[in-house]
Amino acid sequence: MKKYDKRGNPVSYGSQAAIDKLDQAADMLAAFKADTLTAIDAVIADHPDFALAHAMRAGALATATDKAFEDEALKSQKAAEALAARANEREQLHIAASRAWLGGDLGSGVEMWGRASMLCPHDLTALQFAHAGDFFLGYSHMLRDRVARVLPKWSRDVPGYGFVHGMYSFGLEESGEYAAAERHGREAVAINKEDGWAAHAVAHVMEMQGRAKEGVEYLAATSAGWEPGSGFAYHLWWHKALFHLDTNDVKSVLKLYDEKVSAGGFGQALELLDGSALLWRLHLLGHDVGNRWDDLAQKWETRIDHGYYVFNDVNAMMVFAATGNTAAQNRLIAAVKRATDGKGTNAMMSREVGLPACEAFAAFGRGEYAKTIDLLLPVRGRANRYGGSHAQRDMFSWTLTEAAIRAGDRALADAFVAERLVGKPESPVNQAWAVRKDKLARKQAA
Ligand SMILES: [Fe+2]
Repeated sequence: MKKYDKRGNPVSYGSQAAIDKLDQAADMLAAFKADTLTAIDAVIADHPDFALAHAMRAGALATATDKAFEDEALKSQKAAEALAARANEREQLHIAASRAWLGGDLGSGVEMWGRASMLCPHDLTALQFAHAGDFFLGYSHMLRDRVARVLPKWSRDVPGYGFVHGMYSFGLEESGEYAAAERHGREAVAINKEDGWAAHAVAHVMEMQGRAKEGVEYLAATSAGWEPGSGFAYHLWWHKALFHLDTNDVKSVLKLYDEKVSAGGFGQALELLDGSALLWRLHLLGHDVGNRWDDLAQKWETRIDHGYYVFNDVNAMMVFAATGNTAAQNRLIAAVKRATDGKGTNAMMSREVGLPACEAFAAFGRGEYAKTIDLLLPVRGRANRYGGSHAQRDMFSWTLTEAAIRAGDRALADAFVAERLVGKPESPVNQAWAVRKDKLARKQAA
């Protein structure tokens, strides 16, 4: 007899108990629970021939975009491939997607997870992996449109309905549709208070609209839902830290860094990104962050020779630039240069964005601000090609603005500050930049 999961997707495996257990793992994955892999491993331990369980493990590890997880991801991929002959069409798409992704072709991987999601619109995991892929590829509109393709097929009767709204919310936000994004995000959180991705989408709306005070309050008010057992809370706390920074509350920023953002010990690249990007912002504004760089530097140093995902490399460079670690800077630039010669997605990202960005941050670290601008300015417009969110890529704007003021370039400082003030006129950070660039103008006019 044909078997189905709880959302009505056909599953080729013969044990309903195993399918039900994998459903629970899929729910945990959708809520970014920290012990999702443990749950998948428990299914695999009892059911080593369950192809979809191996494929889910491969997908979850692959989309962590961390070289440190590659061996485990490949192990799961191998196990899934060995069982592919008995997998159904949807499951084969999962296996092909993670094969492409792990082979370095991120675009094909996303499209195959997307195909699985269109073939079976209630395949929440396929949609989630494709959504993650769209994020890592910087496909802002696909974060919205890929979810829109299947949204009409969902209703409150289908388990996981809220998660789909949470993903849609983030896609709307990255597409600039802030009001609709906030509506869908709040709806998803109302359905399931543990939906950290949906709360995250609402936080992004507030970040983009400069609603820092509201952002602090919103994340504080919802954290009892999304924090317990989460493997993603560090990122929501990072967002809260950004809101604090935007209200000039540096004490709260550092407290959040020490108690929440770093709480996981920076065991994965995604955590390292947040730590690095937060300290770099503080560094740009001239705040002393003490020895907080050391842990990040140590963790990044184990990853810099691989040229795995250049978004990570650029954030690693911020750490090495801020600490004047030229040996690490040189190793990293050599690795990114090697990556530009390759064929996969990371080669394109490294060529178009990563390498000039790494060189720009290194130049900033040496105090060569005009050079920083020359390298970074052309990249600013195409930065989406190397993935991430608008809020993460805002780092380029921050760095350009600070570099222009330090370089004494009045015209550029004027332009960059104007750009920032349009988005966030109330931001004390932006207002402080405006004061400094006006001072520069007066000094040069005198
Ligand atoms: Fe975010």
